[in-house]
This record gives sequence, structure tokens and C-alpha cells, in this order.
Amino acid sequence: GVPYPVFTRQEVGQHRSLAERVWVTYGSEVFDITDFVELHPGGKSKILLAAGGALEPFWAMYAVHSQEHVLEILQAYKVGEL
Ligand code: HEM
Repeated sequence: GVPYPVFTRQEVGQHRSLAERVWVTYGSEVFDITDFVELHPGGKSKILLAAGGALEPFWAMYAVHSQEHVLEILQAYKVGEL
């Protein structure tokens, strides 16, 4: 397949609000989750805590995300790699 574009963590960090779009990383993958923010079962304010950075520290605190179906949702928003 066509390779994903590569971004730096600094570029990801410039996407921290709905206006500038909301990006997060998980492992070495980059996701634009802007369109999921309002759909998040855990609420908008919680998911925005991870905006511009890594999901891992937050998901370590909320084990509800350790399920295949959560990763499937995330994959749908992939836009690049680190
Ligand atoms: C629940 C996805 C980020 C906190 C959920 C659920 C999904 C989901 C699918 C429901 C899981 C289930 O019940 O089977 C995501 C995705 C995220 C994300 C795709 C990032 C792109 C976060 C972050 C936090 C968070 C960063 C906390 C800072 C929660 C909480 C719940 C939850 C507290 C439980 C809500 C409840 O059942 O009352 N999330 N989440 N999530 N999420 Fe997230």
C-alpha cells in the first residue's frame, strides 16, 4: 500500500484543539481524532487531555481501552507515522 506520511512529535503537538485539529500518537502511529472527540464514550474533556501527545499514559490509567474494538476505532483515524 501507499506509505503514510511521517510526522515529528513536535508537529503532532501543534494539534491540540478542535480548531487546529486533534492529533494523538499510539506507539509509532499518528491519528487525527478530531471527528471522534464528540463520540467518545468517556467524554470530550477526558479525550482532549491526550491532545497533541501520546495516548499511553492515559490508557494506562483507564484499562477500559485494553480491548480490540477500541484499537479498531483508533485505526480508522490514522493519518501518519512518527
Ligand atoms: C471509554 C475510546 C481516549 C477516558 C472509552 C470507550 C471507547 C474509548 C471506545 C468505551 C469502551 C467500552 O466501554 O467498551 C477512546 C479513544 C481514545 C480515547 C479511541 C483516543 C483516541 C481517552 C483518554 C481518556 C479516556 C485520553 C482519559 C484521559 C475514558 C473513560 C472511559 C472511556 C474514563 C469510560 C467511560 C464510561 O464507561 O463511563 N474510550 N478513548 N479515553 N474512555 Fe476513552
